[in-house]
Amino acid sequence: MVAVEYNPFDPKAHADPYPMYARLLIQDPVHWSGLLEAWVLTRYDDVAAVLTDRRFSADRQQAQNRFAREAMQRQDEFGPFARAHTMLTVDGPEHSRLRRSLARAFNPRTVEGWRSRVQQITDELLDAIQESGRFDLIEGLAYPLPVIVIAEMLGVSREDRADFRRWSDDVVAILGGPFASPEVVERGRKSLRDLADYFRGVIAARRREPREDLVSALIAAEERDQLSEDEILATCVLLLVAGNETTRNLIGNGMLALLRHPAQMERLRQDPSLIQSAVGELLRFAGPVQTTARVATEDADIGGQTIEKGQLVFTLIAAANRDPAKFENPDELDIGRHPNEHIAFGDGPHSCLGQYLAHLEAEIAIASLLKRFPHLRLETHEVEWGGNFIIRGLKSLPLAF
Ligand code: HEM
Repeated sequence: MVAVEYNPFDPKAHADPYPMYARLLIQDPVHWSGLLEAWVLTRYDDVAAVLTDRRFSADRQQAQNRFAREAMQRQDEFGPFARAHTMLTVDGPEHSRLRRSLARAFNPRTVEGWRSRVQQITDELLDAIQESGRFDLIEGLAYPLPVIVIAEMLGVSREDRADFRRWSDDVVAILGGPFASPEVVERGRKSLRDLADYFRGVIAARRREPREDLVSALIAAEERDQLSEDEILATCVLLLVAGNETTRNLIGNGMLALLRHPAQMERLRQDPSLIQSAVGELLRFAGPVQTTARVATEDADIGGQTIEKGQLVFTLIAAANRDPAKFENPDELDIGRHPNEHIAFGDGPHSCLGQYLAHLEAEIAIASLLKRFPHLRLETHEVEWGGNFIIRGLKSLPLAF
């Protein structure tokens, strides 16, 4: 048998990583990648085990690994606030302290309160598309919708939205990690400073006069949870970075999957009550986040291999979501799939804080597209993939209506 390799940097594998995931799953489910100097897990049970096991830390920079060292060096270049901890990379009580302050703002009930506003923003974006006659789904809807929603949740005013969008794009671009060019890094660094200055202004204003927004919620938690101003700033930036590209790509990848499975799309048109289940299935089948990572804090046996203390482990949630040991006919898109215990939002203590919001936005975006455009089709069959090996999504998706 030919040895199987995990190389998500190969453009062909990036365009369609699922055959590579299937090969790894069958031939080498606990794979050592020389390229990444890390373990790569593809079985559902192994991925879920690591994400829920306290012996594995989310502080990836502890890893004895080339990428971790490079990331550490880069972070030092971004100044003190960029070094403040966010919930994404800490464990245990420190993690609970940082996450607690936002639990209410992202619970299902609070998120449901945003439904009519998300629908209104979607309708406005679709009006603009209809008027222009040009339809790139990414540019017209999938990209702006989550940016506008999180900007409003954070309390960014309408006039500042364009600056805010540019800064957040520049900051997200740095996350291309070791592959970002020096110009991109320089621009990202400047925008991060501008974004921090902007949020410092918002924080000062909300201290004087609290509102119903996330910055006010973070200020309210300052004393109880001993949040520092740098932690509040870093959390605001995390919310931007964690929620925008992911939700954009769920809408993009999800619509592409539906357009390529016309019978499933028709089924959803005929029965719009399936939308929630459909979005769950699109997350499983074409979810944007391919992998997350953990570091072993002690030697641990996973799937018959010993992961040594200090080693980095990539948990390929996108591969786990197609594991035949967990899902019947995993490569089939079935918008009514039940049960569907996908882990597209991760698992364990770090599972996505924004998952109800992301679900709501994708449900409204997809349902509204199908309702408004009865003859939606792909303009081209050759789509262009962007993103990186962690978050996978389309550069553009031209549609005809
Ligand atoms: C389709 C959209 C989204 C997907 C697929 C997604 C996926 C994920 C995944 C897999 C994790 C776990 C990372 C890990 O275990 O290392 C995560 C964490 C997180 N997500 Fe999301 N996400 C999405 C949208 C959002 C949105 C809209 C927000 C907020 C506005 C958000 C905020 C967060 C935060 C704050 C964390 C860190 C939680 C923690 O460490 O405790 N995400 N997300």
